Amino acid sequence: MKNIIRLGCVLLLALGPAMARAAAAVTDHEIGAILSARCAACHSEHPALMSSAPKGLTFASPATIDKHAHAIYRQVVELRAMPVGNVTNMTDAERQAIALWFNERSGSHTMKAESAHLP
Ligand code: HEC
Repeated sequence: MKNIIRLGCVLLLALGPAMARAAAAVTDHEIGAILSARCAACHSEHPALMSSAPKGLTFASPATIDKHAHAIYRQVVELRAMPVGNVTNMTDAERQAIALWFNERSGSHTMKAESAHLP
């Protein structure tokens, strides 16, 4: 009986972190798909809902998504200002995915982005 309890504890300790990682993993590919579904109607080369991309912002390539990661996070998660009036029906699960994705990468990229603003 004692051994079974001990085994349970060992399993929990071993699997806990692995499960947390699996839950938090959001791929760049997923983010690209979300942005193209919810943002490209306005933010793209030839947007359907605008005459041109607002502020020249498009999220069509990994490079542009990477460059604007912080602005995307701010508008979608912190301010919930984008998509405007949520006309493209972005779901809370998608906002959550963007939050997870941004938090995962913030260790490296955000620090760099923030230190770039220092005098
Ligand atoms: C219905 C059209 C529309 C959709 C859909 C839309 N946007 Fe925008 N976006 C705008 C407009 C218009 C502005 C310019 C707002 C302004 O001038 O203050 C803007 C501005 C922005 C900015 C710059 C904000 C700033 O003040 O610097 C970001 C970042 C942004 N959008 C991200 C997104 C993301 C990410 C999505 C998808 C989740 C999205 N937008 C969906 C119309 C849209």
